[in-house]
Amino acid sequence: MHFYEMSSRLIGDTVSKVSDNMTTVVLAASVITLILGYVSKVLLRQSSDKDLKYPPYIPSSIPFLGHAIAFGKSPIEFLESAYEKYGPVFSFTMVGSTFTYLLGSDAAQLMFNSKNDDLNAEDVYSRLTTPVFGKGVAYDVPNPVFLEQKKMLKTGLNIAHFREHVKIIEAETKEYFQRWGDSGERNLFEALSELIILTASSCLHGKEIRSMLNERVAQLYADLDGGFSHAAWLLPGWLPLPSFRKRDRAHKEIKNIFFKVTQKRRQSGEKVDDILQTLIDATYKDGRPLNDNEIAGMLIGLLLAGQHTSSTTSAWMGFFMARDKSLQERCYAEQKAACGEDLPPLDYDQLKDLNLLERCLKETLRLRPPIMTMMRMARSPQTAAGYTIPVGHQVCVSPTVNHRLCDTWDKRLEFNPDRYLDDNLAAGEKFAYVPFGAGRHRCIGENFAYVQIKTIWSTLLRMYDFDLVDGYFPTINYTTMIHTPNNPVIRYKKRTQ
Ligand code: HEM
Repeated sequence: MHFYEMSSRLIGDTVSKVSDNMTTVVLAASVITLILGYVSKVLLRQSSDKDLKYPPYIPSSIPFLGHAIAFGKSPIEFLESAYEKYGPVFSFTMVGSTFTYLLGSDAAQLMFNSKNDDLNAEDVYSRLTTPVFGKGVAYDVPNPVFLEQKKMLKTGLNIAHFREHVKIIEAETKEYFQRWGDSGERNLFEALSELIILTASSCLHGKEIRSMLNERVAQLYADLDGGFSHAAWLLPGWLPLPSFRKRDRAHKEIKNIFFKVTQKRRQSGEKVDDILQTLIDATYKDGRPLNDNEIAGMLIGLLLAGQHTSSTTSAWMGFFMARDKSLQERCYAEQKAACGEDLPPLDYDQLKDLNLLERCLKETLRLRPPIMTMMRMARSPQTAAGYTIPVGHQVCVSPTVNHRLCDTWDKRLEFNPDRYLDDNLAAGEKFAYVPFGAGRHRCIGENFAYVQIKTIWSTLLRMYDFDLVDGYFPTINYTTMIHTPNNPVIRYKKRTQ
């Protein structure tokens, strides 16, 4: 019997018992109808919930921790074997949270096309980013405000600025690598990490802040950056951990430096054409200018968003080129062909003609995308591949897995920059290649990253010939949030032109 039928019958019974009092009848009928309506709604919901198909769940015998250990040891292998077994959408538990992965281009579109109110970024990122970037920016503000902030930053990342950036980055690279001498074996990742703080500070913060970047300030950045840790991700922020305290102290000190520089720039009335000035002059849609706290937070965000992403990518790119000597020679020959036999100082237009180098970077970002997983919190039930993802699941897309799915990529694990010259299946799949994300949270730093990494590698290829040390190609360190190379030492020898 349907619930509504049952309700009318009951009303009928009630009517016969109290037929002498019409008011009572009407009241009783209304109350009973309301109650039965509510009960039927709840029961209906329950019965339809039973009909819902949830994503396949990977069982685990370890309570609370779930698959954290297996995933932590080898996340890509874990996800790839789950894809084989369960298909593109599946869920599992780690440290008390349920994660649902959307693998492959089709499944990933749910994340990239969704509204932030449905699949929310702040819910998952803010606890990590807000203590580092500070209040009032990025994931600490409602997403429409962050979108306005991203637009302001993007205005500053323009071609006129890039033209200057190429010169700055080439000069910084030459100066930094002087210490390497003519030949040797050195830690490439460490060197590129240090260099990229310098270049990013020059280009994104401006000459005043760059001039203050000494060892002490570099240590402050390192302490601040220590905030991006698994501990910060998993543990409550109020715990008195030394790394949390260091992070908070560094945040305060760096902000004070930025406040002073911003105030000085404002007072001097000098109009320098750089990103700091872009931010000082920027206004929200309602006409309000950014305050000094927001500017400082955005400057920190600019530096740190590009720091690990660009330094790991540049380091991996170096190892891929050192492993394939003929590719390295083709890249060097391209420098001469595009820029001139005598290799004059780099400029932005020439950089654009370095197509092979660009494809090497693109291929590095395919096989070693620094952001291994993008995450959102499901705030409303979501549908993917016919499954319903419940509220509270952390919904994830992994560029790393999408970039090497066997259904999409031919010779998927081979580093082949020329693959982009031919027709390939991946080009037809919208989200098969997403190192910079997509949709409303898409990266704004892609063009700057290309300018920065191409300039650094153009300069380095002109200076040195690179080799692996005794054939060792670095394995992947999965213990860091961004997958860095293990023991990243490279052999180098000065080129005789
Ligand atoms: C190789 C270099 C880089 C890579 C691979 C990279 C990757 C990404 C990815 C995957 C996202 C999307 C995150 C998500 O959807 O959850 C993202 C967002 C973003 N990136 Fe980058 N990034 C790089 C460099 C930079 C640089 C240099 C900057 C700044 C100058 C930057 C600023 C941002 C910002 C502001 C967002 C927006 C986050 C949001 O809207 O939620 N990135 N990046």
